[in-house]
Amino acid sequence: MSRRSHSASPSPRPLKRSKIDHLTKDDFKNGVFLAPMVRSGALPTRLFALKHGATMVWGPEIVDKAILHSKREVDPITGVVSYNGVSRAIFATHPIEKPYLIYQIGSADPGLAVQAAKTVIQDISGVDLNCGCPKPFSTHSGMGAALLTNPDLLCSILTALRKEMPPHITVTAKIRLLPSQEDTLKLVERIVNTGISALTVHCRTRSMRDKDKAKIEKLREIVDFVRGLGKGIAVIENGDCTGWEDAERVRKTTGADSVMIARGAESNPSCFSTEPLTDVERNLWPAYLRVAKYSDNHFSLTKFCVTQFKGRRIEVTKSESHELHQKLSRAKSYTDMQDFMGDHSCEEEFKAIVHAIEEKPPRENRMILPPEPQAEPAELPETCLVTPEDTQNPEPPGSGAPFLPHDFGKILALPDRTETTPTPM
Ligand SMILES: Cc1cc2nc3c(=O)[nH]c(=O)nc-3n(C[C@H](O)[C@H](O)[C@H](O)COP(=O)(O)O)c2cc1C
Repeated sequence: MSRRSHSASPSPRPLKRSKIDHLTKDDFKNGVFLAPMVRSGALPTRLFALKHGATMVWGPEIVDKAILHSKREVDPITGVVSYNGVSRAIFATHPIEKPYLIYQIGSADPGLAVQAAKTVIQDISGVDLNCGCPKPFSTHSGMGAALLTNPDLLCSILTALRKEMPPHITVTAKIRLLPSQEDTLKLVERIVNTGISALTVHCRTRSMRDKDKAKIEKLREIVDFVRGLGKGIAVIENGDCTGWEDAERVRKTTGADSVMIARGAESNPSCFSTEPLTDVERNLWPAYLRVAKYSDNHFSLTKFCVTQFKGRRIEVTKSESHELHQKLSRAKSYTDMQDFMGDHSCEEEFKAIVHAIEEKPPRENRMILPPEPQAEPAELPETCLVTPEDTQNPEPPGSGAPFLPHDFGKILALPDRTETTPTPM
């Protein structure tokens, strides 16, 4: 819980008014997202992910009941909003991430899920239902992956959320594959019919471990199936994507609208950039510690996150890295890392990250791929002057313009995403 006195009102220094309106189904397309991660998806990690190109961020799963009796408090200096339980902050956020923040709920009860979502509604843009956690603490009480085999309950939670949330709050779900593709498709159809805005598919089954290769080849059929349902719902691939560049491979392989990254971002929250940070001990650790300290992130949580960071080492030697890891493992508070964090002000570091997100709104960071090639129509013999029976006439020339999103012009204007944008013909 915070050291500072809090107020229930918003920060006294309002942020620059965001031009971005609420989320639509299209916002879940052409994105590269930070996955929900308990512990590793803490506020500072989400801010660094947004600064370095994540289009949107999912918060860590929070079980419905855990948030219900929390007290919302706003730090009057930093603007950080904390939902505090008896002894600790259950969830912390900052207004800068609100346009990009999806709050993930763990639930096995439609009423509790709705109450949980209503508790945090003023600080988020969407709610996501976790239908994939295979851990016994989740499945024993019917939550997470247990919902995959209880589709009535799963869909009743999504239906209740959609009915009770105002239209500007999106409702989404994150599932795993079922052992049979046919069962996955049946489940997907039911989920899509609840009125959700997007569906994330973690391409592993409940019994697969993270070290098992994700079955991303299963996704294309699911993507085509959802497209065929005609509701404009994005399918988000999750599993084994390492960063921005790799997301292009994943989308080309699967046809997915977007990609979501967990462990790649746990290792390096700048993996969303075309140029992820290298030498993370020098280029990420100090800044992360400063942002975490200023935002009052619990030191043990910060220490856990920093310990996970790995990146390509160019200048930092193995022994320097080892020494820093030793220092961090001995540290009990931010004070023990103060000399390493340097004289640079934590407030300035925090303001810089807020400013970077304001200047380059993450939802405009899109990965626009050229349209997938359509199957070539069978070539007709030169002598054939009439369209043979049962053969479609080819489209008249000029009608085949590729679909361009409404914000295509803006996307082209982005400086460092140009290599992934198609050249208009
Ligand atoms: C540390 C950690 C915490 C996680 N916590 C959650 C969670 O809160 N909710 C959830 O749906 N998935 C959670 N996951 C699963 C990830 O979101 C993701 O589905 C999985 O790691 C596969 O993606 P990846 O191959 O990119 O790591 C977690 C994964 C990790 C590594």
